[in-house]
Amino acid sequence: MENVLIVEGGTPLRGSVRVSGAKNAGLVLMVASILAEGETILDNMPRIRDVEVMIQILNEIGVEAKWNENSLSIYSPSGKIKTKTSYELTRKLRASNLFLGSLLGREKEAVISLPGGCDIGSRPMDLHLKGVQALGAEVQIEHGYIYARVKDPKGNNVYLDFPSVGATENIMMIAVKTPGTTIIENAAKEPEIVDLANFLSSMGAKIRGAGTDVIKIEGVEELKPVRYAIIPDRIEAGTFMVAAAISGGEIMVENVIPTHIYPIIAKLQETGAIVKETESGILVKSREKIRPVDIKTLPYPGFPTDMQSQMMALLCLAEGSSVIVENVFENRFQVVDELKRMGASIKVEGHTAVVEGVKKLYGATVKATDLRAGAALILAGLAAEGQTTIEDAIHIFRGYENIEQKFNSLGAKIKVY
Ligand code: UD1
Repeated sequence: MENVLIVEGGTPLRGSVRVSGAKNAGLVLMVASILAEGETILDNMPRIRDVEVMIQILNEIGVEAKWNENSLSIYSPSGKIKTKTSYELTRKLRASNLFLGSLLGREKEAVISLPGGCDIGSRPMDLHLKGVQALGAEVQIEHGYIYARVKDPKGNNVYLDFPSVGATENIMMIAVKTPGTTIIENAAKEPEIVDLANFLSSMGAKIRGAGTDVIKIEGVEELKPVRYAIIPDRIEAGTFMVAAAISGGEIMVENVIPTHIYPIIAKLQETGAIVKETESGILVKSREKIRPVDIKTLPYPGFPTDMQSQMMALLCLAEGSSVIVENVFENRFQVVDELKRMGASIKVEGHTAVVEGVKKLYGATVKATDLRAGAALILAGLAAEGQTTIEDAIHIFRGYENIEQKFNSLGAKIKVY
């Protein structure tokens, strides 16, 4: 299986690139589609590994899916579907924990494999469970599985201690089919939450406030299958924007919703890059000097943790030192050791990384420890002198569609082995 990327550094990237549909919106919409019976069509779906695994999980519970270019048809049968997801598949994809809400919403029962540890830190499910329990679910954890069942579901108020994206999505998916009113307080506000709300609303759900920290949902009896186009991937967009800045090039990033990427635009501008909103997309022009900036990752609309590693790669080449504070996932600095192999100067203490800019990065053999770390290593490789070999590149294919073709169309020299 293709698992190594080789990046030949030193070419400024130029041209335009079209962003694919959002991975994190696509995945949750696939899970939500089982709330209706019949054929759901999701347009603008990225053809990436994570989506392929999600298709396998759907198949496992008795739901078929078929591709037609970038449209995915999901055939949700009438009658009962299976309510258990296997460890073998779910361990490959943490977003599989979203079946908790959708299976409870549809079948009143869900048996979900616990997610276990993860490359980017522990991912507890306490808030997901608190949410479904508030709506009447009984939950037991045995042999690595969550057994959840709801006999008499009823809307309720749920306060989230942290605006968790997954917990908000799970609660939304059970609440749309739960009689009465559910109010999620301190809900996540990510664009993917709004996309889920829009999708569910088009199916007939009654949801207000998605995109703010209070989401109000009135349960309905039935949801209808629809055709729906997924929003563009703001993290893929951000990755190409950084590519322009780090390679000394100029890239037009097409198919973006500018409001979704304002935090990224703001930070890139602080580094000195020129970022312009145009009719065809976001134009990013590099400037010779990269200024150091400080970054704190936060829930939306703060700076996204999923862009932290890519920005770190850029700041490795800044003139001065930058401070990056990771507030969302505790283990998101694994890329540091890999960047250091390329000549970067970074010190980590707890949640804080101090990046001392260096004049040059050099090609080396490195490992993609997770999806975004992998993207950061491509970016570093584009700017580095010589050849960078990225092992475990499978992590990158999990979340980026046609990544090497897209980069190569901008003049990069990337090969996959
Ligand atoms: C989603 C995204 C991921 C992104 C993250 C934060 C998907 C498929 N993945 O992940 O790309 O990086 O949002 O924007 O959409 N937490 C708890 N208890 C819980 C749930 C979460 O303490 O029950 C904590 C986590 O440990 C973490 C923080 O909340 O520190 C954020 O997690 P969450 O927003 O839930 O992220 P995911 O939905 O897993």
